[in-house]
Amino acid sequence: MRVAMIGTGYVGLVSGACFADFGHVVTCVDKDASKIKRLHDGIMPIYEPGLDTLVENNVKEERLFFTTEAKDAIADADAVFIAVGTPSRRGDGHADLSYVYAAAEEIAALIKGFTVIVTKSTVPVGTGDEVEAIIRKTNPDADFAVVSNPEFLREGAAIKDFKIPDRIVVGTEDERAMDVMSELYRPLFLNQTPILFTSRRTSELIKYAANAFLAVKITFINEMADLCEKVGANVQEVSRGIGLDGRIGAKFLNAGPGYGGSCFPKDTLALTKTANDHGSPVRIIDTVVEVNAARKKAMAVKIINAMGGDVKGKTIGVLGLAFKQNTDDMRDAPSLDIIPALIAAGATVKAYDPEAMEEASHLMDGIQYAENPYAALEGADAMVIITEWDQFRALDLGRVKDALNTPVVIDLRNIYAPEDMLKRGFDYTSIGRPAV
Ligand SMILES: NC(=O)c1ccc[n+]([C@@H]2O[C@H](COP(=O)([O-])OP(=O)(O)OC[C@H]3O[C@@H](n4cnc5c(N)ncnc54)[C@H](O)[C@@H]3O)[C@@H](O)[C@H]2O)c1
Repeated sequence: MRVAMIGTGYVGLVSGACFADFGHVVTCVDKDASKIKRLHDGIMPIYEPGLDTLVENNVKEERLFFTTEAKDAIADADAVFIAVGTPSRRGDGHADLSYVYAAAEEIAALIKGFTVIVTKSTVPVGTGDEVEAIIRKTNPDADFAVVSNPEFLREGAAIKDFKIPDRIVVGTEDERAMDVMSELYRPLFLNQTPILFTSRRTSELIKYAANAFLAVKITFINEMADLCEKVGANVQEVSRGIGLDGRIGAKFLNAGPGYGGSCFPKDTLALTKTANDHGSPVRIIDTVVEVNAARKKAMAVKIINAMGGDVKGKTIGVLGLAFKQNTDDMRDAPSLDIIPALIAAGATVKAYDPEAMEEASHLMDGIQYAENPYAALEGADAMVIITEWDQFRALDLGRVKDALNTPVVIDLRNIYAPEDMLKRGFDYTSIGRPAV
């Protein structure tokens, strides 16, 4: 099959490269000329494990192409994917669909022969109807079907998630479109991946329902962690104790500084807007949005309290800036709430992240960046772990203690054991676990 991917960001680039690896011929389009130039030069615009090799191999095999010109890609495509951003609209939190609609107009003018237009971007219920109307209006003679095919990949594990997904959701009732979608994902049928054909509106809602449910799980365990701190219980054991129940499941039950990233914050907010617009509020998600925003802010207070209630003139060594490990994505990262609050309280922040420092430098002022974790801790009055990168799980704790002015550790990801840290002479604070 010939595929055009409109938008070559996290989702477009990973999906495009994986479809090419399945054997399809894929052209990834992006308006950002510098991104396309870097891809032509073999430089990945994002950090995602394994992506560089996957792209390089498929470019070499002449199955994967990059361009800024949509017309080069669309005319002979069997399927055109829309994988552009749908950020929160400034002011009201609705999903900003302007990129999706602009892409739809552009596609409409260029399609030839029967073409399946697939919305991979996360879009509110009814967006497919609007995309269809735009295409019909712009090109009344076009032969096309608009399909919803939400993407569930996680940054940091995106290639595995795309190639070995838990399920594929396809929203369409058009039989020709079903055939094209089945052919595109055929390698996954062979692995018996469940594929769910639904109506377009149901498919659009499945994506939001999935992200909102996961956000509920995270927020639930975060609130349990707060309660654990008050009553002297251990949230990690609570997680295990409930997660072993097959009805609950063990995943997404790690207490931490609040969810961030490019999806959960904007998608939970957009779902509440859709629900309110339709007079059917999802109050549990309204609460999750509010609790999570407050939690990210409260983390700075937790750090300040652990450092004796005042950080004026103190230095804090921060490990981890990205919203989670294995990505350089800083969108809505908890560090964006925590670090400016520490600086505003008078602290000097020295930070290290294996991949996200450049991105962070565009978003926050006043941070001193270090070359490695130990350099960030040198002469600091505390170490704060914000992101759970594997390399922070295995720090040389003797070296950490030598580097710090005072052996204070605030671990917002619970990656160390309280008893062990105490034995080693650290003043250790974590999330939802009793001090020993
Ligand atoms: N990032 C994730 O982990 C993830 C996971 C699942 C779903 N999603 C959803 O996928 C969508 C894309 O997310 P992302 O993180 O890849 O976004 P992104 O911001 O990384 O990439 C979007 C890209 O689209 C390009 N673009 C915008 N309009 C264009 C146009 N008309 N023609 C060509 N290129 C255009 C932009 O230049 C940008 O490079 C969003 O709706 C998001 O919610 C994201």
